[in-house]
Amino acid sequence: MKEIVVNGGKALKGQVRIHGAKNASLAIMCAALISDVPITLENIPNISDINTLMNIIGAMGGEVRWSGSDSLYIAPPDKINVEAPRDQAKKLRASNLLLGPLLTKYGYAKIALPGGCNIGVRPMDLHFKGLSKMGAKIKLEKGCIVAKADKLRGASIYLDFPSVGATENIMMAACLAEGQTFIENAAKEPEIVDLANFLNAMGAKMRGAGTDLIKVVGVNSLYRCDRYTVIPDRIEAGTYMVAAAATRGDVVVQNVIPKHLEPLIAKLKEANVDVIVGEDYVRVKAGKDLKPVDIKTMPYPGFPTDMQSQMMVLLSTIPGISTIVENIFENRFQVVDELKRLGAKIKVEGRIAIIEGVEELQGAEVRATDLRAGAALLIAGLVANGETRIGNSEYIYRGYQDVQEKFMALGADIRQI
Ligand code: UD1
Repeated sequence: MKEIVVNGGKALKGQVRIHGAKNASLAIMCAALISDVPITLENIPNISDINTLMNIIGAMGGEVRWSGSDSLYIAPPDKINVEAPRDQAKKLRASNLLLGPLLTKYGYAKIALPGGCNIGVRPMDLHFKGLSKMGAKIKLEKGCIVAKADKLRGASIYLDFPSVGATENIMMAACLAEGQTFIENAAKEPEIVDLANFLNAMGAKMRGAGTDLIKVVGVNSLYRCDRYTVIPDRIEAGTYMVAAAATRGDVVVQNVIPKHLEPLIAKLKEANVDVIVGEDYVRVKAGKDLKPVDIKTMPYPGFPTDMQSQMMVLLSTIPGISTIVENIFENRFQVVDELKRLGAKIKVEGRIAIIEGVEELQGAEVRATDLRAGAALLIAGLVANGETRIGNSEYIYRGYQDVQEKFMALGADIRQI
């Protein structure tokens, strides 16, 4: 068990460079399996979730290795007839994104029901509904998803909820399906657009990604792309932005696409945080006169659920009452009990958290319950006076590359045991 120890109470100052997007990378690595030619992916973060997916692809016969500090070489196998290794697939929710690519390219997929962060029920009914409508036969067998299809057919699919994963799986499956696929009420996250750009670069015919209607015309094979660079991670960027505000610091967050950060920037500005937006950077400066705000998590372009826990820490430091309504994942308030150990005053009623700002947080022993809860506890530790010890810090390394080094470069006193 790894522990991160933070001595807080210092304002963060300086510059931090953001790595590639975890969630875009995971989807794009799965999509690379549809290709007939090897591909080099650039701007991939070296974090444990990526390494887990590398292990899964490798065990299924693909060749996958780091070819540079942030580039991955992936050569898809000629055929796949083995199951995605259970121990690895269970660790990673995104292993479910192998379903669409494997079905469309190889006609067969067997994947252990995926795990990942414990942030809610996370069913896969929308994935199954979409793929079944395209002609896939899907069964659950001894904790595994087993899916078969001789040839997928295009279909009109309406998603009851704009699920990111379901949209991605159906987009990927539709690339080699016969005829046209329409995905209505599709997710609009930047990672969806990045995946569509990658699929189109490989030769797919897809339009409308980033809107709620995605149209795909199936083609015979994908082979046109041998190199692709993924977008920067808006959640990693957001985490450093909120850390800067929570510690009343002044931080320039570099290598970002500011448009992707708009929902967060709007809320920070509403809280009276000074945010200066450049072409590929944002500078976040916070003084003492911050104001409480109310937040509702929503699918993009709403406020991201993945930034909610970190924001809760900032709101805990602002005098007055703020509220957060969590509309995406039901277990995302597990961090509340941990934040209370540091002196935060938060009351949860169903999907609503009511946060009363306190004068100061005090260091304590806490445990990360999921990736973003871990990030929130790190920020809380940076704010709190004295020492904070964060147990289960493996969660943090699932999503944040060089997190200790980056915070140290901003003046934080942080170490790993
Ligand atoms: C992705 C992100 C995750 C982010 C989330 C929402 C990856 C690897 N992970 O997760 O970081 O927090 O989007 O932005 O990209 N749902 C169903 N049935 C389904 C699928 C989803 O009911 O078949 C529900 C889920 O339980 C949840 C909501 O839809 O309540 C959103 O889930 P979804 O958008 O699918 O999230 P993920 O793709 O799992």
